[in-house]
Formats: sequence, C-alpha cells, structure tokens
Amino acid sequence: MMRLGKRLRAVADFVSDGARLADIGSDHAKLPIFLVETGKVKFAIAGEVVKGPYEISLENTQNFSEIKVRLANGLYAIEEDDNIDTIVIAGMGGILISEILEARNQLARSMKRLIIQPNNEEAEIRSWLIKNDFKIVAEEILEEKGKIYEIIVAETGEMQLSELELKFGLYLTASETFEKKWKRRISEIDHVLSVLPENKDEERKNLEEEKAIIREILG
Ligand SMILES: C[S@@+](CC[C@H](N)C(=O)[O-])C[C@H]1O[C@@H](n2cnc3c(N)ncnc32)[C@H](O)[C@@H]1O
Repeated sequence: MMRLGKRLRAVADFVSDGARLADIGSDHAKLPIFLVETGKVKFAIAGEVVKGPYEISLENTQNFSEIKVRLANGLYAIEEDDNIDTIVIAGMGGILISEILEARNQLARSMKRLIIQPNNEEAEIRSWLIKNDFKIVAEEILEEKGKIYEIIVAETGEMQLSELELKFGLYLTASETFEKKWKRRISEIDHVLSVLPENKDEERKNLEEEKAIIREILG
C-alpha cells in the first residue's frame, strides 16, 4: 500500500468517494495510487509537466489500469472523455496554481470540486475561486516536517470574502498551527525590518501594517 505523508494524506481525505480525479503536478503519482488502492477512486489522471517524474509515474502505475499518466502542462493533461469532476493541485506556489487554473478556465470552472494545496500565496487561490464562481467548503492547516501547509477545498457556488478572509482563510483561525504560522510571519517581518535600508519607507510601512493586521487576528 502506498504510504503518504501527513500533507498528502490530508489532501486525499478531501477527495469524495467515486470521484473522477485529475492530480495535476502529480510528481510520482503517489496520490492517485493511494486513492485507487484504498478503493476511493476508480479513475484518475496523473498529470506531470517534467519528463523525469512522468517516467517514474509510468513505472509506478504499471499495475494500475485505473490511472492514466500524462505528460502535459497543467490542465492540458485532462481530455474530454475522462469526465473528470475533481482536480487536485498540491505542493506548488499559489501563483503558479492560479495560472494553471486560469489557463483552462472553462474546464476548471466545470469541476464539482477543487482541492488546492498551495505552498504560499493562498490569497491568490481564494481570489481566483471568487472570480470563477467557487465557494470554499473546507480548509485545513497542518504542519509536516517543520513546514506549515494550507489546504483549500472549493465547490461551485458564490462567496464573498473580506480582505482578512482572503489572507487568513475562512476556517483556520482557531487552530494552534494557524497561530504558529502567523507568529512565524511576524518574526520574518521583524527580521526584514531590522535589515531594511532607512530610505525604504514604503516597504517599511507595508510591513508594519501587515504586522499590525496579523497581531489583531491573533488577538
Ligand atoms: C513539489 S511537487 C508536488 C508533488 C505532489 N503534487 C505533492 O503535493 O506532493 C510539484 C510538481 O508539480 C510539477 N509541475 C509544476 N508545474 C506544472 C505544470 N504547469 N503542469 C504540471 N505539472 C507541473 C513539478 O514538475 C513537480 O513534479
């Protein structure tokens, strides 16, 4: 049985039973293999843009007729006949993920569920979701090997988010890991402020403002 780390396991838990899944940027196809082995999905695409991981995915999935491995950029791994209803994009920066979604915007918008795990710039994802008629149905924050990750799950629907919700999410604020993440950001900001040249007034002001907002959220 494929063993997943805590982060990918949490992503897997958000996949609905019987979903037709595309895992974009699948690396070695670990997530689709786990989901097929556990019987949660019967059909999955493992999309990968880099040849090395694509070839390893081909090897890893030799015994899984349920998984199609495709060498393609982003959502171009998905074909119409696949009838995909769920897309996972995990382990990349939020800006890159938004660009991948935007590049096949109509296809992305037709999904029942998006499960997104950005490594940073989560607000980019939330903005993309609003603009493309998705609503966030769940979020999770977790720590693995010292790094903190957010998972954002969205389905078709409308939502409006405040500036604070865009940055901090809708469902995350109560957790200890949330507190840890944003305390770390305060330390980063303090470090940058301590080395910032005197004449960088605008940057200093923005960082001070960000710090004040984080302090307010942390209470
Ligand atoms: C850090 S790995 C994450 C792998 C896996 N999704 C996970 O969460 O553990 C990111 C993967 O995305 C792939 N990737 C980056 N840009 C991509 C794109 N535009 N289309 C498909 N795959 C992409 C990279 O080659 C790499 O294998």
